[in-house]
Amino acid sequence: MCSESVSLKTMKKKDGLSWIDWMRGWVNVTQEILFQRIMASHLHNPLPLPSLNHLTCIVTGSTSGIGSETARQLAEAGAHVVMAVRNIKAAYELIQQWQTKWSASGKGLPLNIEAMELELLSLDSVVRFSNAWNARLAPLHVLINNAGMFAMGGAQRFSKDGNEQHMQVNHLAPALLSLLLLPSLIRASGSRIINVSSVIHYVGFVDPNDMNVVSGERKFSSLIGYSSSKLAQVMFNNILFKKLPIETGISVVSLSPGVVQTNGTRDLPRFIQELYSAWPYFIFSPQEGCRSSLFSATDPQVLQHYHKLKTNEKSVCTLFISQNCKPTNCSEEAHNVETASKVWEKTLEMICLPLDVVERLIEGQEVPINL
Ligand SMILES: NC(=O)c1ccc[n+]([C@@H]2O[C@H](COP(=O)([O-])OP(=O)(O)OC[C@H]3O[C@@H](n4cnc5c(N)ncnc54)[C@H](OP(=O)(O)O)[C@@H]3O)[C@@H](O)[C@H]2O)c1
Repeated sequence: MCSESVSLKTMKKKDGLSWIDWMRGWVNVTQEILFQRIMASHLHNPLPLPSLNHLTCIVTGSTSGIGSETARQLAEAGAHVVMAVRNIKAAYELIQQWQTKWSASGKGLPLNIEAMELELLSLDSVVRFSNAWNARLAPLHVLINNAGMFAMGGAQRFSKDGNEQHMQVNHLAPALLSLLLLPSLIRASGSRIINVSSVIHYVGFVDPNDMNVVSGERKFSSLIGYSSSKLAQVMFNNILFKKLPIETGISVVSLSPGVVQTNGTRDLPRFIQELYSAWPYFIFSPQEGCRSSLFSATDPQVLQHYHKLKTNEKSVCTLFISQNCKPTNCSEEAHNVETASKVWEKTLEMICLPLDVVERLIEGQEVPINL
């Protein structure tokens, strides 16, 4: 019996994850699909927000789904919101709609919201965005790395930087953005980097020597592309959490929004879509799905949880907020410090930043980027 469980623990699947972690991962995913509404039944919808007049927040991918709802609610609570998007025209159309509704409601001054171009399939675009933002010399209180893609069932495709697209959009480009914006985040004191991950990271596996899944060791599928990118994002942020000194005042949080009806779920297999439309009870609306982002970005409890983790030397993972706005554990694989460190190093190589980038930026040094 004992030797059986030992072998299950150590026996690896073809994609590199142990069978036991893979099974545990799917239990987590199934629980989220079936019970998220019950688990989150204590939360109000929309999540009540305090006045956020003092905050500047960048929200990536805010032209649809969870990101658009997050941006609108932050702006309505008084924050200065920057929609970092690839489709500027769509962003300005949304801003106009929101302003019109807001002024008709007679609730106060116009929303303080603007849009800036950011195409995550281009690392160059990330550098341009960061340079433009940092040039303002303004504090940045919250960066929400929300934009993401899941080309369900799609073939393996690459960005013009040569990276598998899920890996670039969901992990590499947001990692570059977080690092390049550190000077503005440090300027804010008490700022937060919020990473919209997914429960799918529990079934992910990253090979740091084959982040783009091109070696032939693993057969690419869109699920492998998506889950590896979301796990790489969590692992990278676990190392960033360890590297950022408490004195910078920056908190790093990963989260799961739950299973949410958005453009991101339009490629789900037909049977899952039918299941959802038959029982819409199970799936969150974008308003429900953005609660863990809003909570992570604004709630004071988050800083308390973060501080506790940060001051415990044994912590290897940063704060992970579940779809019900409670701290939870990230996946077993995400606790693998050796792999996470390799993912950190490989990521920096792929986004052309030096290994001591965090230390240099904290000291106020210029960091050369040779993309
Ligand atoms: N929906 C869910 O059940 C679920 C579950 C777990 C995690 N998530 C995560 O939640 C986040 C938001 O997803 P969503 O469900 O709200 O999906 P969505 O409605 O498809 O929104 C995704 C956003 O990301 C933007 N985006 C995609 N590729 C981009 C690129 N190359 N450069 C810049 N922006 C890009 C999209 O812009 P365009 O409008 O221009 O395409 C859109 O604004 C993602 O990180 C996703 O992985 C979602």
